[in-house]
Amino acid sequence: MLNVPSQSFPAPRSQQRVAFGGRSKVPLKQGRSLMDWIRLTKSGKDLTGLKGRLIEVTEEELKKHNKKDDCWICIRGFVYNVSPYMEYHPGGEDELMRAAGSDGTELFDQVHRWVNYESMLKECLVGRMAIKPAVLKDYREEEKKVLNGMLPKSQVPDTLAKEGPSYPSYDWFQTNSLVTIAIYTKQKDINLDSIIVDHQDDSFRAETIIKDCLYLIHIGLSHEVQEDFSVRVVESVGKIEIVLKKKENTSWDFLGHPLENHNSLIPRKDTGLYYRKCQLISKENVTHDTRLFCLMLPPSTHLQVPIGQHVYLKLPITGTEIVKPYTPVSGSLLSEFKEPVLPNNKYIYFLIKIYHTGLFTPELDRLQIGDFVSVSSPEGNFKISKFQELEDLFLLAAGTGFTPMVKILNYALTDIPSLRLDVEFVLSAPISEWNGKQGHISPALLSEFLKRNLDKSKVLVCICGPVPFTEQGVRLLQDLNFSKNEIHSFTA
Ligand SMILES: Cc1cc2nc3c(=O)[nH]c(=O)nc-3n(C[C@H](O)[C@H](O)[C@H](O)COP(=O)(O)OP(=O)(O)OC[C@H]3O[C@@H](n4cnc5c(N)ncnc54)[C@H](O)[C@@H]3O)c2cc1C
Ligand code: HEM
Repeated sequence: MLNVPSQSFPAPRSQQRVAFGGRSKVPLKQGRSLMDWIRLTKSGKDLTGLKGRLIEVTEEELKKHNKKDDCWICIRGFVYNVSPYMEYHPGGEDELMRAAGSDGTELFDQVHRWVNYESMLKECLVGRMAIKPAVLKDYREEEKKVLNGMLPKSQVPDTLAKEGPSYPSYDWFQTNSLVTIAIYTKQKDINLDSIIVDHQDDSFRAETIIKDCLYLIHIGLSHEVQEDFSVRVVESVGKIEIVLKKKENTSWDFLGHPLENHNSLIPRKDTGLYYRKCQLISKENVTHDTRLFCLMLPPSTHLQVPIGQHVYLKLPITGTEIVKPYTPVSGSLLSEFKEPVLPNNKYIYFLIKIYHTGLFTPELDRLQIGDFVSVSSPEGNFKISKFQELEDLFLLAAGTGFTPMVKILNYALTDIPSLRLDVEFVLSAPISEWNGKQGHISPALLSEFLKRNLDKSKVLVCICGPVPFTEQGVRLLQDLNFSKNEIHSFTA
């Protein structure tokens, strides 16, 4: 494992990783941490200047509030006074000002759509945007038509519409005891990772990932069903079948009524993150500050996190919901920690370093077995197809950047028989007895380790760690003539 070059923040040994590609966090003044912001929002101070009143904001009004000390931003139809938050924004005041006096939804989503602004800014809420009468539309008739039908062409995003009549649809059928919902994706690269199902009480939700879009089935079921259900995928025709068990063996006249965004195909970047509550099953010490957490999905959820992807964990911290990304590792890591490997994809494992001065991880560490954490649907752009015909695989990890490598290693060593495992540890601050490699990521270290077996062999280099490690690593790899396609860096 290679280690990190030092810099002021993230702290030299901090494994915190933020996004790569020009976006970076700024150093915040003393007393301007997220915890300080939460304290300010709980202080009872009037943060909008409206004394608790909520108002309707017109576009003209919004535009007027475009200065640092008087800055309103609209996100998803709600307007916030972000002036009090300026000095607390980890991305800096200038970044926040890019959305001043305007609708910042797109900009916000481009940078960090997972940030839980609704909870963080609830004391800054000015009100809703006034809706122009012309925009109002009666959806009731349309909803009746789309339930159990085809997606109206107007709702098909351009990327899929180009492919002709290959947009998804669904249907349902029943026996005495079962209801089957069949989703026709019309895509061949569909598998059990592509479908996420959650149902709670009578609300049923199935997200199918199709390229960069989500096809959402969202229905209030007409009758009760049991908690557990099964999911089948017929890959050759791109069909997914979700088989629900009826609570009573009666015949259903209709499946249910449409809920928000039912039967729609939405670009993934435009959808909010959906969370379900998972229970903490076990917690094992791996090192003095790193733990292996095992969370259990609810029985009414089907979710598999694909290799190389991460999820967001959400916890309330002194009344504000805080969200951080984590990459699940394989359950098989547990065997070393003397726990049985638990069956059937119901469990998600996380290897997490606890920062005693951090915001989220101490709270996570305080959870008791049986407590709940909210877990989002998976995100990330790593594709398993990168392994096709692979001849050399190099994994460069620093600190908790090790986590995405766990599933990759498991997969590569099981499914690509030609690959051979060789591990090099490089320590930046070794004890005096250490006689292995030491130092930080450098051209000399990389050229020593990263040798292609053959001149033109198909290579993949995966890199993950704190931002300085990843950024410098990618630059050095390019200097060593690895092409962009041959490098995958893991970021939020
Ligand atoms: C895609 C992705 C996947 C990830 N996967 C994992 C994973 O599998 N396992 C894992 O352990 N982590 C992972 N991380 C990191 C994780 O998301 C958190 O960043 C990490 O757990 C720290 O969170 P925290 O709130 O406890 O600490 P933070 O409050 O963010 O603080 C982290 C450290 O920085 C210091 N610090 C905070 N603010 C400042 C400041 N203004 N100036 C100076 N120092 C400061 C803190 O004292 C602490 O030492 C991942 C990150 C990404 C982007
Ligand atoms: C709409 C304009 C905005 C822009 C252009 C912007 C930009 C950025 C940038 C560049 C970063 C640093 C990079 C990163 O961490 O990914 C960042 C971080 C952050 N921003 Fe914003 N931001 C905006 C609005 C907001 C708002 C309204 C909030 C309200 C809560 C917010 C909360 C945060 C948080 C919590 C982080 C730290 C994320 C982390 O832990 O990694 N931002 N922002």
